[in-house]
Amino acid sequence: MTAILLNGKELAAKKREQMKEKVEQLKSQGTVPGLAVILVGTNQASQTYVRSKQKACEQIGIHSVLVELSEETTESQLLAEIDRLNEDSSVDGILVQLPLPKQITEQAVIERIHPSKDVDGFHPISIGKMMTGEETFLPCTPHGIVVMLKEANIELEGKHVVVVGRSNIVGKPVGQLLLNENATVTYCHSRTKNLEEMTKQADILIAAVGVTKMIKEKHVKPGAVVIDVGINRENGKLCGDVDFDEVKEVASYLTPVPGGVGPMTITMLLENTIQSAERRA
Ligand code: GUN
Repeated sequence: MTAILLNGKELAAKKREQMKEKVEQLKSQGTVPGLAVILVGTNQASQTYVRSKQKACEQIGIHSVLVELSEETTESQLLAEIDRLNEDSSVDGILVQLPLPKQITEQAVIERIHPSKDVDGFHPISIGKMMTGEETFLPCTPHGIVVMLKEANIELEGKHVVVVGRSNIVGKPVGQLLLNENATVTYCHSRTKNLEEMTKQADILIAAVGVTKMIKEKHVKPGAVVIDVGINRENGKLCGDVDFDEVKEVASYLTPVPGGVGPMTITMLLENTIQSAERRA
């Protein structure tokens, strides 16, 4: 068996074409959607991600502003910058690229962004609403994964989802969103005993750990859907958390890296920004 690849790049392109029209419509009504991205320091991966986000905004007509701050920025300087953007009515979304330099407490920064501009969906109010199933900004990577699964007509209700990884950005929220879709969810992490025994039970296996090629054929039940959220660099090449060559022989569906989940993350960020602009309009 060879897995069907879930092409995030193609789906993202299709969604972005539809968004372009919506942006045009908003502009004709006098509202230009605006995203402010704050980049602190010189983390190379962060610089690359931020550039991709800005390029994506440009492509569909969202106005993006980049605020670049030095590695030595203090927490209070960053909070003041957020306060300024909270007040700026041309800004619909504020995104602070993570990780932040060690002198800054990430949670304090996340909590300073006004929930009405929290296009990352990281604010405790956004997370709380996601948990109770109220309408809110959903975190981009988890939301992108759910959209991809639905687009491929993969049934979620009653399915056993096993999430490997428990980060606030991906692992925890993706489990919650799939629980909201009536899946049965198990979380695994670095202290889980008998990982292989757990992952083998998954109808849908989500790898979000950040360890290159950690998920092997032996971890996967034949016919399972495997979603690879890893973006690891190995000898200059992008590499997922899933051993693609091994797992493609047992999975029914598999996301490639690159070209799987990644493009969907940015697409959901654009969607959240447009949604915020629509509320303003
Ligand atoms: N760093 C890695 N992923 C993300 C993300 O989705 N949003 C932000 N702000 N920072 C990140």
